[in-house]
Formats: sequence, structure tokens, C-alpha cells
Amino acid sequence: MEENRYLTFALGKGRLAKKTLALFERIGITCEEMKDKDTRKLIFVNEEEKMRFFLSKGPDVPTYVEYGAADIGIVGEDTILEENRKIFEVLDLGFGKCRMCVCGPNEAGELLQKREWIRVASKYPRIAKDYFYNKKHQTVEIIKLNGSIELAPMVGLSEVIVDIVETGSTLRENGLQVLEEVCPLSARMVVNPVSMKMEHERITRLIALLKEELSKETIETR
Ligand code: PRP
Repeated sequence: MEENRYLTFALGKGRLAKKTLALFERIGITCEEMKDKDTRKLIFVNEEEKMRFFLSKGPDVPTYVEYGAADIGIVGEDTILEENRKIFEVLDLGFGKCRMCVCGPNEAGELLQKREWIRVASKYPRIAKDYFYNKKHQTVEIIKLNGSIELAPMVGLSEVIVDIVETGSTLRENGLQVLEEVCPLSARMVVNPVSMKMEHERITRLIALLKEELSKETIETR
């Protein structure tokens, strides 16, 4: 591979990006440009390491990585499952832990148990479909929403929702609860399959450094 090629990282905007940069700092990779809160720049460069970073909407990260516009992406497992792109998932970063759950009012529990035909609202129609059709063998109508999913059962749009639960406070404050758990989630590192071959050495070295740093955390919290 040509020596001066930049390794490009796509980071999902928000908390995950902040935690990713903090983790990278611990292994000696910094990006000072990115720390300027007022900047309107979109791409940040670390010349020494020959690395470039950019922030994008979470669901766009797997797209950038599949097409090779980014070699590496950091994004939640929820987005990886929903986007279903041709990318390699190489590392569980251990942060951004939460759960994908079927939630609703208490009464909806019975409809789930009896496998009744229900309406399911979600920002994650693929995950919801896979769960109900392939795992539960329950026929449902899936309604795609873009946010504030908890509203759906409250205003009568659906009986249940499939959504992320982190602290559970959104559910509690709206009289809803977890009825079934679909899967646990956390932040993952994903890699473009061609980059994995062409930049094998740099990428495997990075993964090894990150793994080592993350294992220190496990030891410290024991
Ligand atoms: C997510 C998710 C829940 C909430 C869960 O929404 O969709 O609404 O966080 O977190 P909690 O269990 O800690 O309350 P987000 O804030 O990303 O916004 P959105 O509703 O617009 O998707």
C-alpha cells in the first residue's frame, strides 16, 4: 500500500464519537482539531499518524465503510444490524451499552404471549421484522418511525415498540415497560473488507492496541 495513504475513520456523531476519541487518546492517537467545539469543519486530520476522522449520522457510518469512503467506522450494534451492510465487525468497544427491547404498556404483554397480530412501531424495522418473523414466528405489522418511538403506544399508533433501552427512564416516565429483550447492544468497530486486506498491518495493529487498552478496563473493574 502506498505509504502516505490516510486511514479514514467515520464516527457516529454524539456520545459514541466522544467516547471513541477518549479511547483513542489512551492509545496515543489524538486529533486536536476535533476538540474545537466551534469548528464547522467536517474532516479532521492527524498528519503524524496519517489518519483522518469525520463525523456522520450514525446510520450513515456503515454506508461510508461499505463503499470504502471510510476504512473504519465506529457505530452502535443496533445500526449495524439495521443497515445490514457488507462490512466486517472487528471489535466490541464495550461502551454505549444498552438493550434492544420490545416495550409497551403492561397489557400488551398478553398480546405478545398469545402471538396475536399487533402493530409494532420502530426506528429499526429490519431488527423488529427479524425478531418477530424469524425468532418469534409472530405475524405483526411494522410501522417505521424516526424518533420519540415511545409515543406510538401512548397515542394508539401501535401496541408495542421495538427500541433501545439504556437507563429505562424514558419508559418509566411514560408508563411503559420492557416486555421482551431482543438483544444486548454496544459500540463496535467496523472495517471495509478491501481496507482490511490492503491495510492489514495498520488495522490489525490498531485493533491489538485497542484490545489491550480495553482489557485493562476489565481488570480494573473486577
Ligand atoms: C433513545 C431511545 C429511547 C431512549 C432510551 O432515544 O430511542 O427513546 O434513548 O434511553 P433511556 O432508557 O436511557 O431513557 P434518543 O434519545 O436517541 O432519541 P429518539 O427518541 O429521537 O430516537
